Amino acid sequence: PLVPTTDLVGRAAAGRGCVAAFNAITLEHAEGIVSGAETAGRPVIVQISENAVRYHGGRLAPLALAAASLARTSAVGVALHLDHVTDVGLLHQAAATGFSSVMFDAGALPWTDNLAATAAAARWAHEAGLWIEAELGYVGGKPDSPASAHADGVRTDPAEAADYVARTGVDALAVAVGSSHAMTRRSAHLDHTLIARLREAVPVPLVLHGSSGVPDAELRAAVRAGMTKINIGTALNVSLTHTVRDVLREEPALTDPRRYLGPARDAVAATVRDLLTALAA
Ligand code: G3H
Ligand code: ZN
Repeated sequence: PLVPTTDLVGRAAAGRGCVAAFNAITLEHAEGIVSGAETAGRPVIVQISENAVRYHGGRLAPLALAAASLARTSAVGVALHLDHVTDVGLLHQAAATGFSSVMFDAGALPWTDNLAATAAAARWAHEAGLWIEAELGYVGGKPDSPASAHADGVRTDPAEAADYVARTGVDALAVAVGSSHAMTRRSAHLDHTLIARLREAVPVPLVLHGSSGVPDAELRAAVRAGMTKINIGTALNVSLTHTVRDVLREEPALTDPRRYLGPARDAVAATVRDLLTALAA
Protein backbone atom coordinates (compact mmCIF):
# COMPACT_ATOMS: atom_id res chain seq x y z
CA PRO A 1 0.00 0.00 0.00
CA LEU A 2 0.87 3.68 -0.32
CA VAL A 3 1.79 4.77 3.21
CA PRO A 4 2.90 8.13 4.65
CA THR A 5 6.64 8.75 4.98
CA THR A 6 6.10 9.90 8.56
CA ASP A 7 4.84 6.39 9.48
CA LEU A 8 7.92 4.65 8.03
CA VAL A 9 10.42 7.12 9.47
CA GLY A 10 8.57 7.28 12.80
CA ARG A 11 8.55 3.51 13.19
CA ALA A 12 12.23 3.27 12.21
CA ALA A 13 13.19 6.01 14.67
CA ALA A 14 11.19 4.44 17.51
CA GLY A 15 12.97 1.11 16.99
CA ARG A 16 16.42 2.72 16.49
CA GLY A 17 16.40 1.16 13.01
CA CYS A 18 16.25 2.75 9.59
CA VAL A 19 14.19 3.09 6.46
CA ALA A 20 15.84 3.22 3.05
CA ALA A 21 14.82 5.78 0.42
CA PHE A 22 15.71 5.00 -3.19
CA ASN A 23 15.72 7.51 -6.05
CA ALA A 24 13.63 6.76 -9.14
CA ILE A 25 14.42 8.45 -12.45
CA THR A 26 12.54 6.16 -14.83
CA LEU A 27 9.53 3.84 -14.59
CA GLU A 28 11.98 0.91 -14.51
CA HIS A 29 13.63 2.38 -11.41
CA ALA A 30 10.25 2.70 -9.66
CA GLU A 31 9.21 -0.84 -10.63
CA GLY A 32 12.59 -2.25 -9.57
CA ILE A 33 12.51 -0.47 -6.21
CA VAL A 34 9.04 -1.73 -5.32
CA SER A 35 9.79 -5.24 -6.54
CA GLY A 36 13.10 -5.38 -4.60
CA ALA A 37 11.36 -4.19 -1.44
CA GLU A 38 8.68 -6.87 -1.84
CA THR A 39 11.34 -9.57 -2.21
CA ALA A 40 13.13 -8.30 0.91
CA GLY A 41 9.79 -7.99 2.73
CA ARG A 42 10.69 -4.48 3.88
CA PRO A 43 8.89 -1.16 3.49
CA VAL A 44 10.59 1.46 1.37
CA ILE A 45 10.51 5.11 0.35
CA VAL A 46 10.53 5.89 -3.38
CA GLN A 47 11.90 9.35 -3.92
CA ILE A 48 11.84 11.52 -7.03
CA SER A 49 14.28 14.42 -7.15
CA GLU A 50 13.81 17.82 -8.70
CA ASN A 51 16.58 16.84 -11.14
CA ALA A 52 14.57 13.80 -12.22
CA VAL A 53 11.50 15.99 -12.69
CA ARG A 54 13.60 18.31 -14.85
CA TYR A 55 14.63 15.28 -16.93
CA HIS A 56 10.93 14.61 -17.55
CA GLY A 57 10.46 18.08 -19.00
CA GLY A 58 9.56 19.64 -15.65
CA ARG A 59 6.52 17.36 -15.31
CA LEU A 60 6.08 15.75 -11.93
CA ALA A 61 2.85 13.84 -12.49
CA PRO A 62 3.78 11.12 -15.03
CA LEU A 63 6.44 9.38 -12.92
CA ALA A 64 4.85 10.31 -9.58
CA LEU A 65 1.44 8.89 -10.48
CA ALA A 66 3.08 5.72 -11.81
CA ALA A 67 5.05 5.35 -8.57
CA ALA A 68 1.91 5.99 -6.49
CA SER A 69 0.06 3.33 -8.49
CA LEU A 70 2.88 0.82 -7.92
CA ALA A 71 2.81 1.68 -4.21
CA ARG A 72 -0.95 1.11 -3.90
CA THR A 73 -0.72 -2.42 -5.27
CA SER A 74 2.51 -3.31 -3.45
CA ALA A 75 2.74 -6.11 -0.88
CA VAL A 76 4.90 -3.84 1.35
CA GLY A 77 4.42 -0.27 2.54
CA VAL A 78 5.74 2.24 0.03
CA ALA A 79 5.95 6.00 0.69
CA LEU A 80 6.54 8.71 -1.89
CA HIS A 81 9.03 11.50 -1.20
CA LEU A 82 9.95 14.53 -3.33
CA ASP A 83 13.74 14.91 -3.05
CA HIS A 84 16.18 17.87 -3.22
CA VAL A 85 13.62 20.53 -4.09
CA THR A 86 14.83 24.09 -4.60
CA ASP A 87 11.81 25.30 -6.60
CA VAL A 88 8.95 26.30 -4.31
CA GLY A 89 6.51 25.90 -7.22
CA LEU A 90 7.41 22.22 -7.47
CA LEU A 91 7.03 21.84 -3.72
CA HIS A 92 3.47 23.07 -4.03
CA GLN A 93 2.61 20.32 -6.53
CA ALA A 94 3.67 17.53 -4.17
CA ALA A 95 0.51 16.80 -2.21
CA ALA A 96 -1.70 16.50 -5.29
CA THR A 97 0.51 13.81 -6.84
CA GLY A 98 0.71 11.26 -4.01
CA PHE A 99 3.73 12.56 -2.09
CA SER A 100 3.51 12.54 1.69
CA SER A 101 6.89 14.19 2.19
CA VAL A 102 9.39 16.57 0.66
CA MET A 103 13.04 17.50 1.10
CA PHE A 104 13.59 21.22 0.75
CA ASP A 105 17.18 21.93 -0.22
CA ALA A 106 18.24 25.46 0.60
CA GLY A 107 21.84 24.31 1.11
CA ALA A 108 23.21 26.64 -1.57
CA LEU A 109 21.70 29.76 0.09
CA PRO A 110 23.48 31.94 2.65
CA TRP A 111 22.60 31.04 6.25
CA THR A 112 19.91 33.64 6.97
CA ASP A 113 18.23 33.13 3.57
CA ASN A 114 18.37 29.38 4.10
CA LEU A 115 16.68 29.75 7.51
CA ALA A 116 13.93 32.00 6.17
CA ALA A 117 13.24 29.90 3.04
CA THR A 118 13.26 26.61 4.98
CA ALA A 119 11.01 27.94 7.76
CA ALA A 120 8.53 29.18 5.13
CA ALA A 121 8.66 25.82 3.30
CA ALA A 122 8.08 23.98 6.62
CA ARG A 123 5.06 26.15 7.47
CA TRP A 124 3.59 25.52 4.04
CA ALA A 125 4.34 21.76 4.16
CA HIS A 126 2.68 21.33 7.54
CA GLU A 127 -0.41 23.17 6.40
CA ALA A 128 -0.55 20.82 3.40
CA GLY A 129 -0.10 17.79 5.69
CA LEU A 130 3.39 16.98 4.41
CA TRP A 131 6.44 15.80 6.36
CA ILE A 132 9.48 17.92 5.51
CA GLU A 133 13.21 17.23 5.54
CA ALA A 134 15.94 19.87 5.16
CA GLU A 135 19.71 19.74 4.91
CA LEU A 136 22.46 21.40 6.88
CA GLY A 137 26.17 21.21 6.15
CA TYR A 138 26.62 20.52 2.50
CA VAL A 139 26.60 16.88 1.35
CA GLY A 140 28.98 17.44 -1.53
CA GLY A 141 29.10 16.14 -5.05
CA LYS A 142 25.88 17.39 -6.64
CA PRO A 143 26.41 18.72 -10.18
CA ASP A 144 25.77 22.36 -9.30
CA SER A 145 27.26 22.39 -5.82
CA PRO A 146 29.95 24.91 -4.91
CA ALA A 147 33.52 23.61 -5.16
CA SER A 148 34.01 23.79 -1.41
CA ALA A 149 31.23 21.30 -0.86
CA HIS A 150 33.46 18.56 -2.28
CA ALA A 151 35.94 19.10 0.52
CA ASP A 152 36.33 16.03 2.64
CA GLY A 153 36.06 18.08 5.82
CA VAL A 154 32.46 19.31 5.31
CA ARG A 155 30.59 18.39 8.50
CA THR A 156 27.42 19.45 10.27
CA ASP A 157 27.93 21.08 13.67
CA PRO A 158 25.56 19.57 16.32
CA ALA A 159 24.72 22.84 18.08
CA GLU A 160 24.10 24.61 14.78
CA ALA A 161 21.93 21.68 13.65
CA ALA A 162 19.80 21.83 16.81
CA ASP A 163 19.38 25.60 16.38
CA TYR A 164 18.46 25.15 12.70
CA VAL A 165 15.75 22.58 13.50
CA ALA A 166 14.34 24.76 16.29
CA ARG A 167 14.20 27.81 14.04
CA THR A 168 12.81 26.11 10.92
CA GLY A 169 10.47 23.50 12.40
CA VAL A 170 11.50 20.76 9.96
CA ASP A 171 10.62 17.11 10.70
CA ALA A 172 13.98 15.57 9.74
CA LEU A 173 17.49 16.78 9.06
CA ALA A 174 20.03 15.63 6.46
CA VAL A 175 23.52 16.06 7.88
CA ALA A 176 27.05 16.00 6.45
CA VAL A 177 29.02 13.26 8.22
CA GLY A 178 31.43 12.04 5.53
CA SER A 179 29.27 10.78 2.67
CA SER A 180 29.20 12.40 -0.76
CA HIS A 181 26.66 12.27 -3.58
CA ALA A 182 27.15 10.22 -6.76
CA MET A 183 29.94 7.90 -5.62
CA THR A 184 30.13 4.82 -7.84
CA ARG A 185 32.45 3.03 -5.42
CA ARG A 186 31.61 2.19 -1.83
CA SER A 187 34.65 3.67 -0.14
CA ALA A 188 33.28 6.46 2.08
CA HIS A 189 34.12 6.50 5.78
CA LEU A 190 31.59 8.12 8.07
CA ASP A 191 32.20 10.03 11.27
CA HIS A 192 30.24 7.80 13.66
CA THR A 193 31.16 9.88 16.72
CA LEU A 194 29.68 12.94 15.02
CA ILE A 195 26.52 10.99 14.12
CA ALA A 196 26.09 10.05 17.79
CA ARG A 197 26.63 13.69 18.86
CA LEU A 198 24.11 14.88 16.26
CA ARG A 199 21.61 12.24 17.42
CA GLU A 200 22.05 13.52 20.98
CA ALA A 201 21.65 17.20 20.00
CA VAL A 202 18.95 17.09 17.32
CA PRO A 203 15.36 16.21 18.29
CA VAL A 204 14.25 14.96 14.82
CA PRO A 205 15.31 11.92 12.72
CA LEU A 206 18.65 12.25 10.89
CA VAL A 207 19.03 11.53 7.16
CA LEU A 208 22.11 10.21 5.38
CA HIS A 209 22.47 11.37 1.78
CA GLY A 210 24.97 9.93 -0.68
CA SER A 211 24.64 6.44 0.82
CA SER A 212 25.61 4.67 -2.44
CA GLY A 213 29.26 5.38 -1.59
CA VAL A 214 29.04 3.85 1.89
CA PRO A 215 29.86 0.15 2.52
CA ASP A 216 27.21 -2.07 4.19
CA ALA A 217 29.06 -2.27 7.51
CA GLU A 218 29.50 1.51 7.62
CA LEU A 219 25.80 1.99 6.91
CA ARG A 220 24.85 -0.38 9.71
CA ALA A 221 27.20 1.43 12.09
CA ALA A 222 25.66 4.75 11.03
CA VAL A 223 22.18 3.43 11.86
CA ARG A 224 23.41 2.17 15.24
CA ALA A 225 24.88 5.62 15.89
CA GLY A 226 21.57 7.30 15.09
CA MET A 227 20.86 7.67 11.35
CA THR A 228 17.21 6.94 10.45
CA LYS A 229 16.61 7.62 6.74
CA ILE A 230 19.19 6.23 4.31
CA ASN A 231 19.11 7.82 0.83
CA ILE A 232 20.40 5.72 -2.07
CA GLY A 233 20.40 6.78 -5.71
CA THR A 234 23.59 6.19 -7.66
CA ALA A 235 23.86 2.48 -6.75
CA LEU A 236 20.67 1.85 -8.73
CA ASN A 237 21.98 3.75 -11.75
CA VAL A 238 25.17 1.71 -11.65
CA SER A 239 23.19 -1.57 -11.66
CA LEU A 240 20.79 -0.39 -14.36
CA THR A 241 23.40 1.03 -16.71
CA HIS A 242 25.92 -1.80 -16.34
CA THR A 243 23.17 -4.26 -17.20
CA VAL A 244 22.05 -2.34 -20.28
CA ARG A 245 25.68 -2.08 -21.44
CA ASP A 246 26.30 -5.82 -20.88
CA VAL A 247 23.15 -6.90 -22.72
CA LEU A 248 23.83 -4.62 -25.70
CA ARG A 249 27.46 -5.71 -25.84
CA GLU A 250 26.30 -9.35 -25.98
CA GLU A 251 23.64 -8.62 -28.60
CA PRO A 252 24.56 -5.50 -30.59
CA ALA A 253 21.70 -6.01 -33.08
CA LEU A 254 19.02 -5.89 -30.37
CA THR A 255 16.39 -3.15 -30.80
CA ASP A 256 13.46 -4.13 -28.54
CA PRO A 257 13.93 -1.99 -25.41
CA ARG A 258 12.17 -4.62 -23.29
CA ARG A 259 15.12 -6.94 -23.93
CA TYR A 260 17.60 -4.62 -22.21
CA LEU A 261 15.35 -2.56 -19.91
CA GLY A 262 13.79 -5.74 -18.48
CA PRO A 263 17.10 -7.17 -17.23
CA ALA A 264 18.12 -3.65 -16.09
CA ARG A 265 14.94 -3.39 -14.01
CA ASP A 266 15.69 -6.83 -12.51
CA ALA A 267 19.19 -5.60 -11.63
CA VAL A 268 17.72 -2.55 -9.85
CA ALA A 269 15.37 -4.86 -7.92
CA ALA A 270 18.29 -7.11 -6.89
CA THR A 271 20.32 -4.12 -5.68
CA VAL A 272 17.38 -2.81 -3.65
CA ARG A 273 16.76 -6.28 -2.18
CA ASP A 274 20.44 -6.66 -1.22
CA LEU A 275 20.70 -3.21 0.36
CA LEU A 276 17.46 -3.64 2.33
CA THR A 277 18.62 -7.05 3.52
CA ALA A 278 22.04 -5.68 4.51
CA LEU A 279 20.45 -2.80 6.40
CA ALA A 280 18.12 -5.16 8.27
CA ALA A 281 20.99 -7.42 9.40
O1 G3H B 1 18.98 12.30 -2.12
C1 G3H B 1 19.48 11.30 -2.66
C2 G3H B 1 20.68 10.65 -2.14
O2 G3H B 1 21.44 11.53 -1.42
C3 G3H B 1 21.38 9.82 -3.17
O3 G3H B 1 22.81 9.86 -3.11
O4 G3H B 1 23.12 8.95 -5.39
O5 G3H B 1 25.04 9.24 -3.89
O6 G3H B 1 23.35 7.47 -3.39
P1 G3H B 1 23.63 8.80 -3.99
ZN1 ZN C 1 20.82 13.63 -1.60
